[in-house]
Amino acid sequence: MIRPATINDVPGMADVINSHAERGKMLFKSYAQLYEALRDFAVYELDGEVVGVCGLAIIWADLAEVRSLAVNETFRGKGIGSDLVRWCIEEARRLRIRRLMSLTYEQRFFEKLGFEVVSKESLPLKVWSDCVRCPKNNNCDEIAMVRTLHEVPEAKGPTAPPTPRGVSIPVLPIYEDD
Ligand SMILES: CC(C)(COP(=O)(O)OP(=O)(O)OC[C@H]1O[C@@H](n2cnc3c(N)ncnc32)[C@H](O)[C@@H]1OP(=O)(O)O)[C@@H](O)C(=O)NCCC(=O)NCCS
Repeated sequence: MIRPATINDVPGMADVINSHAERGKMLFKSYAQLYEALRDFAVYELDGEVVGVCGLAIIWADLAEVRSLAVNETFRGKGIGSDLVRWCIEEARRLRIRRLMSLTYEQRFFEKLGFEVVSKESLPLKVWSDCVRCPKNNNCDEIAMVRTLHEVPEAKGPTAPPTPRGVSIPVLPIYEDD
Protein backbone atom coordinates (compact mmCIF):
# COMPACT_ATOMS: atom_id res chain seq x y z
CA MET A 1 0.00 0.00 0.00
CA ILE A 2 1.31 3.44 -0.94
CA ARG A 3 0.39 6.34 1.30
CA PRO A 4 1.79 9.72 2.35
CA ALA A 5 4.49 9.32 5.00
CA THR A 6 3.78 10.07 8.64
CA ILE A 7 6.10 10.94 11.52
CA ASN A 8 6.10 7.32 12.68
CA ASP A 9 7.52 6.15 9.34
CA VAL A 10 10.75 8.15 9.67
CA PRO A 11 12.92 5.42 11.31
CA GLY A 12 11.84 2.90 8.64
CA MET A 13 12.38 5.45 5.85
CA ALA A 14 15.88 6.22 7.14
CA ASP A 15 16.70 2.49 7.27
CA VAL A 16 15.68 1.90 3.66
CA ILE A 17 17.34 5.07 2.27
CA ASN A 18 20.56 4.84 4.25
CA SER A 19 21.14 1.14 3.53
CA HIS A 20 21.49 2.22 -0.13
CA ALA A 21 23.39 5.41 0.73
CA GLU A 22 26.05 3.27 2.40
CA ARG A 23 26.66 1.68 -1.01
CA GLY A 24 26.97 5.08 -2.74
CA LYS A 25 23.63 4.70 -4.54
CA MET A 26 22.04 7.81 -3.05
CA LEU A 27 22.44 10.58 -0.50
CA PHE A 28 22.16 9.89 3.22
CA LYS A 29 19.14 11.36 4.97
CA SER A 30 19.20 12.28 8.64
CA TYR A 31 16.09 12.08 10.81
CA ALA A 32 16.09 15.91 10.87
CA GLN A 33 16.05 16.09 7.05
CA LEU A 34 13.26 13.54 6.84
CA TYR A 35 11.11 15.28 9.48
CA GLU A 36 11.58 18.61 7.72
CA ALA A 37 10.65 17.31 4.26
CA LEU A 38 8.12 14.71 5.43
CA ARG A 39 5.24 16.17 3.40
CA ASP A 40 7.22 15.45 0.21
CA PHE A 41 7.33 11.71 0.92
CA ALA A 42 5.30 8.61 0.26
CA VAL A 43 6.02 5.17 1.68
CA TYR A 44 5.15 1.68 0.52
CA GLU A 45 3.96 -0.28 3.54
CA LEU A 46 3.77 -4.06 3.70
CA ASP A 47 2.57 -5.82 6.86
CA GLY A 48 3.20 -2.67 8.90
CA GLU A 49 6.77 -2.26 7.63
CA VAL A 50 8.17 0.49 5.38
CA VAL A 51 9.65 -1.37 2.40
CA GLY A 52 9.84 1.49 -0.08
CA VAL A 53 10.29 5.26 0.03
CA CYS A 54 10.11 8.10 -2.45
CA GLY A 55 9.94 11.90 -2.29
CA LEU A 56 8.81 14.56 -4.73
CA ALA A 57 10.53 17.89 -4.12
CA ILE A 58 9.31 21.01 -5.89
CA ILE A 59 12.19 22.81 -7.63
CA TRP A 60 10.36 25.45 -9.67
CA ALA A 61 6.96 26.20 -11.16
CA ASP A 62 7.58 23.72 -13.97
CA LEU A 63 9.88 21.20 -12.32
CA ALA A 64 9.77 18.69 -9.45
CA GLU A 65 12.42 16.15 -8.51
CA VAL A 66 11.91 12.48 -7.68
CA ARG A 67 14.19 12.06 -4.66
CA SER A 68 15.35 9.37 -2.27
CA LEU A 69 13.67 6.55 -4.20
CA ALA A 70 14.60 3.26 -2.53
CA VAL A 71 13.13 -0.19 -2.14
CA ASN A 72 14.21 -2.71 0.49
CA GLU A 73 16.50 -5.30 -1.15
CA THR A 74 14.18 -8.21 -0.25
CA PHE A 75 11.22 -6.67 -2.08
CA ARG A 76 12.91 -5.65 -5.35
CA GLY A 77 11.42 -6.45 -8.73
CA LYS A 78 7.82 -6.56 -7.50
CA GLY A 79 6.77 -3.24 -8.99
CA ILE A 80 7.13 -1.26 -5.76
CA GLY A 81 9.69 1.21 -7.19
CA SER A 82 7.50 1.80 -10.25
CA ASP A 83 4.43 2.35 -8.08
CA LEU A 84 6.31 4.91 -6.00
CA VAL A 85 7.40 6.82 -9.12
CA ARG A 86 3.79 6.68 -10.37
CA TRP A 87 2.73 8.22 -7.04
CA CYS A 88 5.16 11.08 -7.78
CA ILE A 89 3.70 11.48 -11.27
CA GLU A 90 0.17 11.69 -9.85
CA GLU A 91 1.35 14.15 -7.23
CA ALA A 92 2.97 16.33 -9.92
CA ARG A 93 -0.30 16.24 -11.90
CA ARG A 94 -2.26 17.27 -8.80
CA LEU A 95 0.14 20.16 -8.21
CA ARG A 96 0.03 21.11 -11.91
CA ILE A 97 3.77 20.66 -12.31
CA ARG A 98 4.60 19.77 -15.90
CA ARG A 99 8.06 18.20 -15.64
CA LEU A 100 9.58 15.61 -13.33
CA MET A 101 13.27 14.96 -13.10
CA SER A 102 15.58 12.46 -11.49
CA LEU A 103 19.32 12.24 -10.96
CA THR A 104 19.96 8.54 -11.05
CA TYR A 105 22.11 5.54 -11.93
CA GLU A 106 18.98 3.56 -12.89
CA GLN A 107 18.51 4.74 -16.48
CA ARG A 108 16.60 1.66 -17.71
CA PHE A 109 14.22 1.71 -14.77
CA PHE A 110 13.32 5.37 -15.36
CA GLU A 111 13.08 4.91 -19.14
CA LYS A 112 10.37 2.31 -18.55
CA LEU A 113 8.47 5.01 -16.68
CA GLY A 114 8.66 7.49 -19.57
CA PHE A 115 11.74 9.47 -18.49
CA GLU A 116 14.38 10.57 -21.02
CA VAL A 117 18.04 11.42 -20.55
CA VAL A 118 18.77 15.16 -20.70
CA SER A 119 21.99 17.15 -20.32
CA LYS A 120 22.67 18.22 -16.76
CA GLU A 121 23.21 21.79 -17.96
CA SER A 122 19.57 21.98 -19.07
CA LEU A 123 18.47 21.74 -15.43
CA PRO A 124 18.31 24.86 -13.25
CA LEU A 125 21.07 25.67 -10.80
CA LYS A 126 18.71 25.10 -7.88
CA VAL A 127 18.79 21.36 -8.59
CA TRP A 128 22.39 21.20 -7.40
CA SER A 129 21.76 22.54 -3.89
CA ASP A 130 22.15 19.03 -2.42
CA CYS A 131 25.55 18.54 -4.06
CA VAL A 132 27.34 20.16 -1.12
CA ARG A 133 26.23 17.16 0.92
CA CYS A 134 27.32 14.61 -1.66
CA PRO A 135 30.79 13.06 -1.37
CA LYS A 136 31.03 13.04 -5.19
CA ASN A 137 30.06 16.74 -5.53
CA ASN A 138 32.05 18.03 -8.56
CA ASN A 139 32.55 14.52 -9.95
CA CYS A 140 28.85 13.76 -10.24
CA ASP A 141 28.32 10.64 -12.36
CA GLU A 142 24.54 10.48 -12.06
CA ILE A 143 22.34 10.61 -15.14
CA ALA A 144 19.82 13.46 -15.44
CA MET A 145 16.40 12.28 -16.66
CA VAL A 146 13.16 14.15 -17.29
CA ARG A 147 9.55 13.22 -17.99
CA THR A 148 7.18 15.87 -19.30
CA LEU A 149 3.49 15.57 -18.43
CA HIS A 150 2.08 16.89 -21.68
CA GLU A 151 -1.45 17.01 -20.30
CA VAL A 152 -0.40 19.60 -17.69
CA PRO A 153 -0.43 23.12 -19.15
CA GLU A 154 2.69 25.27 -19.10
CA ALA A 155 3.14 27.09 -15.77
CA LYS A 156 2.37 30.79 -15.57
CA GLY A 157 5.49 31.81 -13.60
CA PRO A 158 8.90 32.56 -15.10
CA THR A 159 10.97 29.61 -16.27
CA ALA A 160 13.94 28.71 -14.11
CA PRO A 161 17.24 29.85 -15.59
CA PRO A 162 19.50 26.97 -16.68
CA THR A 163 22.81 26.36 -14.94
CA PRO A 164 25.23 28.97 -16.31
CA ARG A 165 28.28 27.61 -18.11
CA GLY A 166 31.38 27.44 -15.97
CA VAL A 167 29.53 27.58 -12.66
CA SER A 168 31.16 25.30 -10.15
CA ILE A 169 29.09 23.82 -7.40
CA PRO A 170 30.08 25.05 -3.91
CA VAL A 171 31.82 22.32 -1.96
CA LEU A 172 32.19 22.02 1.80
CA PRO A 173 35.81 21.67 2.93
CA ILE A 174 36.88 18.20 4.06
CA TYR A 175 38.27 18.20 7.60
CA GLU A 176 40.75 15.42 8.27
CA ASP A 177 41.05 13.85 11.73
CA ASP A 178 44.35 14.67 13.48
C1 LIG B 1 15.70 1.32 -8.58
C2 LIG B 1 14.71 0.70 -7.60
C3 LIG B 1 13.99 1.80 -6.84
C4 LIG B 1 13.70 -0.16 -8.40
O1 LIG B 1 12.73 -0.65 -7.50
P1 LIG B 1 11.94 -2.01 -7.80
O2 LIG B 1 10.78 -2.09 -6.88
O3 LIG B 1 12.89 -3.15 -7.79
O4 LIG B 1 11.49 -1.75 -9.31
P2 LIG B 1 10.26 -2.42 -10.07
O5 LIG B 1 9.99 -3.76 -9.52
O6 LIG B 1 9.15 -1.45 -10.09
O7 LIG B 1 10.89 -2.53 -11.52
C5 LIG B 1 10.25 -2.02 -12.63
C6 LIG B 1 10.97 -2.44 -13.87
O8 LIG B 1 12.29 -1.89 -13.91
C7 LIG B 1 13.24 -2.95 -13.98
N1 LIG B 1 14.36 -2.55 -13.16
C8 LIG B 1 14.37 -2.32 -11.83
N2 LIG B 1 15.61 -1.99 -11.43
C9 LIG B 1 16.36 -2.04 -12.55
C10 LIG B 1 17.73 -1.82 -12.81
N3 LIG B 1 18.58 -1.53 -11.82
N4 LIG B 1 18.19 -1.94 -14.07
C11 LIG B 1 17.35 -2.28 -15.07
N5 LIG B 1 16.04 -2.51 -14.89
C12 LIG B 1 15.57 -2.38 -13.65
C13 LIG B 1 12.55 -4.17 -13.46
O9 LIG B 1 13.12 -5.34 -14.01
C14 LIG B 1 11.14 -3.95 -13.95
O10 LIG B 1 11.03 -4.32 -15.30
P3 LIG B 1 9.67 -5.02 -15.86
O11 LIG B 1 8.58 -4.00 -15.65
O12 LIG B 1 9.98 -5.29 -17.28
O13 LIG B 1 9.50 -6.22 -15.00
C15 LIG B 1 15.42 -0.26 -6.60
O14 LIG B 1 16.20 -1.16 -7.33
C16 LIG B 1 16.32 0.45 -5.59
O15 LIG B 1 15.89 0.75 -4.46
N6 LIG B 1 17.59 0.70 -5.95
C17 LIG B 1 18.57 1.30 -5.05
C18 LIG B 1 18.34 2.75 -4.83
C19 LIG B 1 18.35 3.53 -6.13
O16 LIG B 1 19.22 3.36 -6.96
N7 LIG B 1 17.37 4.41 -6.26
C20 LIG B 1 17.23 5.26 -7.41
C21 LIG B 1 17.73 6.60 -7.04
S1 LIG B 1 17.06 7.77 -8.13
